[in-house]
Amino acid sequence: MADVVLDKICKTFGTEFHAIKDLSLTIRDGEFLILVGPSGCGKSTALRMIAGLEEISSGTLSIGGENVVDLSPKDRNIAMVFQSYALYPHMTVFDNIAFSMKLAGKSKDERTKRVNEIAKTLQLTKVLGSKPAELSGGQRQRVAMGRAMVREPAAFLMDEPLSNLDAKLRVQMRAEIVSLQRQLAVTTIYVTHDQTEALTMGDRVAVLKGGVLQQVDTPKILYSKPVNAFVAGFIGSPSMNLFQGRLEKGCVVLPTFSLPLSAEAFARSPGLTAFEGRTVLFGIRPEDLHDSKLASGAMHPTIPATVKSIEELGSEWIVHLNIDAVRVDSGDPDAVEELSSAANAVAKFEATSHARAGERIDVAIDVAKLHFFDPESHLAL
Ligand SMILES: Nc1ncnc2c1ncn2[C@@H]1O[C@H](COP(=O)(O)OP(=O)(O)O)[C@@H](O)[C@H]1O
Ligand SMILES: [Mg+2]
Repeated sequence: MADVVLDKICKTFGTEFHAIKDLSLTIRDGEFLILVGPSGCGKSTALRMIAGLEEISSGTLSIGGENVVDLSPKDRNIAMVFQSYALYPHMTVFDNIAFSMKLAGKSKDERTKRVNEIAKTLQLTKVLGSKPAELSGGQRQRVAMGRAMVREPAAFLMDEPLSNLDAKLRVQMRAEIVSLQRQLAVTTIYVTHDQTEALTMGDRVAVLKGGVLQQVDTPKILYSKPVNAFVAGFIGSPSMNLFQGRLEKGCVVLPTFSLPLSAEAFARSPGLTAFEGRTVLFGIRPEDLHDSKLASGAMHPTIPATVKSIEELGSEWIVHLNIDAVRVDSGDPDAVEELSSAANAVAKFEATSHARAGERIDVAIDVAKLHFFDPESHLAL
């Protein structure tokens, strides 16, 4: 077991392209850290540098207090679980798990003892004699975990290990990996592009964009206090709605309506007062927009909106709206895809709502839940 410390790590491909810029991050002993960000932001590159599969251009990396920059992958004492878990098809589950012990020259007794222990933890005892082709997707994933565990690594590195599984199995394996990680208490760095996975699995989540670390914190803090508009838009589903407005006399003023802000809003965003008379970006999560006709919306200020479409998801509705405001791009490509055509806002309404597609309605905004950002730097105020 060990902590993993990245200090100002950079990765350049060729002379121009900076895939990772000044990445500093401490993953504590036994911690489950999720590295999340859109496709191409440098997650795999960062993980591969930690594993030693990719050279570090500059900066230092230590595992368990030891500088490992010059160590080969096999001397770093870490185990990697990839997206394609490539098991040896002609070998049994037992032999797949025991393979690295065999290579390391461990005795047969030692191998049997260790593999049996691991199989018990992973609930693979009954299939130790089976070949990978006879296993379910979830079992194969567990065998891949077993192969990593058998080496008793100081840290696990996982690169989107669940992305090949179907949705149902993915949810199940998520829970299995979390409970296994708790049980083993081995430092784990888990890469995903899926913000739901990030929020539900990790002790802490590090958000990466364009090779630059944006924020690292608990899922709760990332959700409630995003440091910038990108994190605000990336974490949460559907994404936070982001608009432009002017701050005037304690109100956010838009072309056809204005929202009075409470003292609480100013207390939550200490930088806000300095923007009096200026443009600000403000964000509101879909669950903080309500149907004004329902009890949940009754006490909040309202804005007029047109209902573009409704996705009825049982207990709640995802309501695509058009409001008279300039929507701002948070920088997350997926956030744009969530909007149906002509909609510029997404709300979550309770299923008791009477809203219908095509209607003009009043949408209640819980103004105490607004997030404010600097329109230039996109930093939270
Ligand atoms: N060997 C390489 N040579 C040049 N560019 C690379 C190489 N590996 C990755 N990249 C680039 O670095 C960026 C980050 O890639 P990657 O770490 O795979 O992203 P992610 O895992 O977040 O999707 C991408 O723009 C990718 O094209
Ligand atoms: Mg990747």
